Amino acid sequence: MSSKTRVVLLCGGKSAEHEVSLQSAKNVVDAIDRERYEVVLIGIDKQGCWHLCDAEDFLLHADDPSRIALKASGEPVALVTGEGGQPALVTLNEHRDLGPVDVVFPVLHGTFGEDGTIQGLLKLADIPFVGAGVLGSSVGMDKDVMKRLLRDAGLPIPKFFVVSRAQADALSFEHAVEQVGRPLFVKPANLGSSVGIHKVASRAEFDAAVKDAFRYDTKIIVEEAIVGREIECSVLGNETPQASLPGEIIPTHEFYSYEAKYLDEAGARLEIPAKLPDETVRRVQELAVRTFQVLCCEGLARVDFFLQEDGAILVNEINTIPGFTRISMYPKLWEVSGLAYPELIHRLLQLAIERFEREKALETSVRLS
Ligand SMILES: Nc1ncnc2c1ncn2[C@@H]1O[C@H](COP(=O)(O)OP(=O)(O)O)[C@@H](O)[C@H]1O
Ligand SMILES: [Mg+2]
Repeated sequence: MSSKTRVVLLCGGKSAEHEVSLQSAKNVVDAIDRERYEVVLIGIDKQGCWHLCDAEDFLLHADDPSRIALKASGEPVALVTGEGGQPALVTLNEHRDLGPVDVVFPVLHGTFGEDGTIQGLLKLADIPFVGAGVLGSSVGMDKDVMKRLLRDAGLPIPKFFVVSRAQADALSFEHAVEQVGRPLFVKPANLGSSVGIHKVASRAEFDAAVKDAFRYDTKIIVEEAIVGREIECSVLGNETPQASLPGEIIPTHEFYSYEAKYLDEAGARLEIPAKLPDETVRRVQELAVRTFQVLCCEGLARVDFFLQEDGAILVNEINTIPGFTRISMYPKLWEVSGLAYPELIHRLLQLAIERFEREKALETSVRLS
């Protein structure tokens, strides 16, 4: 029996960020310390089926982000609670047991990856996993709930209000402008990658934006447009989280839209670390850690901010499984803060196991003395 820790990497998935996840997973596979870890790679296809892949050779067009795809050959597998409550990976066709699983790293972004659903499955299967649990993941995914918790904790955020589908007919541009000013942002509550997000200034644009945002979700948020720099900060840890040096996104488009993120190579410039006065760095780091804690996160998250001209800092959002490619902000910020990519992966896996052990030690029923 190998003494190495057996890590299952999950990638792909039923999300708009399937391809980004594949790139992230490739980088994790390349960087993970093979002296310590044995890697089992599972590719989740766009229909949601899990496939056992060869970690050394699981991608088509690995170096071309616009054509990257999972190789089709992987055998279908499922994660089940086996005998004695032990988690097991089994093949669907021959019911072959693929051996024990020590820890799972869901390198998945967006819907069904970052929203608490996969976390619920892993929790039921009784396996340690990297990142926020069910609650932190789902709270972090829902911009309405996330912003209400931040506001309740007294953290600075842009003005916003939420509109459900049932309230949509009564929503007017005049009312929106009265609430949050003009221009304003319209966003689906539960999505990422800037999908369905619009900056609008006129009634016609507003009506079209609301209609589009409701294509993606049953509730949307309407938000004050902030003029300011976009600053991001990486957080790592469980009970005593640490913040990295901040970085800056400098979009070349009107805002950091889907096109700027994924389609236009020159859509944004990353400044790592951001050029900021020490005092601003300290305040960003403090707000990043508080945001992480208020939103019940664990393991890792990237917290995104707006820095206004007058020095005010507003929290925009949290991402509980940020991009993990070698050029992604999350690992890059740790690198410039003194934590290299392979060490970062090791820390994340250790934090997953530590959290699991801590939760396991909790009483699950009343003990009568
Ligand atoms: N209130 C706002 N003021 C100014 N720009 C915004 C605002 N909300 C969003 N943006 C712009 O839109 C981008 C995507 O919005 P965000 O809320 O971060 O959604 P996502 O989860 O899709 O990343 C941000 O990076 C920023 O460029
Ligand atoms: Mg964002």
